[in-house]
Amino acid sequence: MEQHMIPLQMDILRESAERVRTRLGHPTPMAAAILGSGWGSAMADWTVTHTIPYGDIPVMGAAAVKGHAGALHLAETGEGSCLVFQGRRHFYGCAAWEPVIFPVYLAHQLGASTLLLTNAAGGVRADLQPGDLMAIDDHINGMGANPLCGPHHPDLGPRFPDLTHLYTPALRRELDESATARDIPLKHGTYLAVSGPSYETPAEVRAYATMGADAVGMSTVPEAILAGSLGLRVAGLSCITNRAAAIDNDALSHDDVIEITQAATPRMRTLVTTFMQRVGAATATKR
Ligand code: HPA
Repeated sequence: MEQHMIPLQMDILRESAERVRTRLGHPTPMAAAILGSGWGSAMADWTVTHTIPYGDIPVMGAAAVKGHAGALHLAETGEGSCLVFQGRRHFYGCAAWEPVIFPVYLAHQLGASTLLLTNAAGGVRADLQPGDLMAIDDHINGMGANPLCGPHHPDLGPRFPDLTHLYTPALRRELDESATARDIPLKHGTYLAVSGPSYETPAEVRAYATMGADAVGMSTVPEAILAGSLGLRVAGLSCITNRAAAIDNDALSHDDVIEITQAATPRMRTLVTTFMQRVGAATATKR
């Protein structure tokens, strides 16, 4: 974990954000979304106006994982524009926090007020089965790390950010209403993040269940923490791709994760689009 103790390079975050702002033509997006493993097609119904491959954004670093190709898009949802990070950088794949948290920093710098975080996760609670979609109500940080460790940067919020209502209650309701309107089953639960990249052992999964986890994955929590610290409204969605390691499991594989998300793609796409349009409509009436 030592590499993560390198203090955040705020100048690199700031410069990269300014470069991207210029390249996107100084946009004022209403929201941002990070599309994690298997969620890449969730934006298929939107009109993309700009695309920047992650390779052109030095702070994002190189792509590491299948299903995480990586490009930043500016897209029109029909009710306002959204910054879309198609593919994320993970704690386990990075020598520093900057690539993991840049999307959140950028979203805040460009004035987006809502952030949607999506991921693939293993189901811990008995009813969370492969293919299910789950709204994240709360999280447990089991990564053993926090992107806000190190010297305090007032640009990233207070020294001790409050996370009591991190997954914004109004957005959780909005997710429910979007799902109901489009007849999509949506479960709710607490997401526990581990550092990865190894999957959990059965004993760990039993322990996480006792701790109150409903699903387990390797992402989202660092981004949510920074977003909460910056005062963004946060919504989270998991696609359950497998039962987390349990005695009745076959071996877990990333290919299975991708296969299950493909089957869930039409629901992901409809839910994300409906949610963003509702958020956009509500944001516009407040302006
Ligand atoms: N554990 C951790 N991360 C995951 C899993 C899992 O079972 N499934 C998809 N991402």
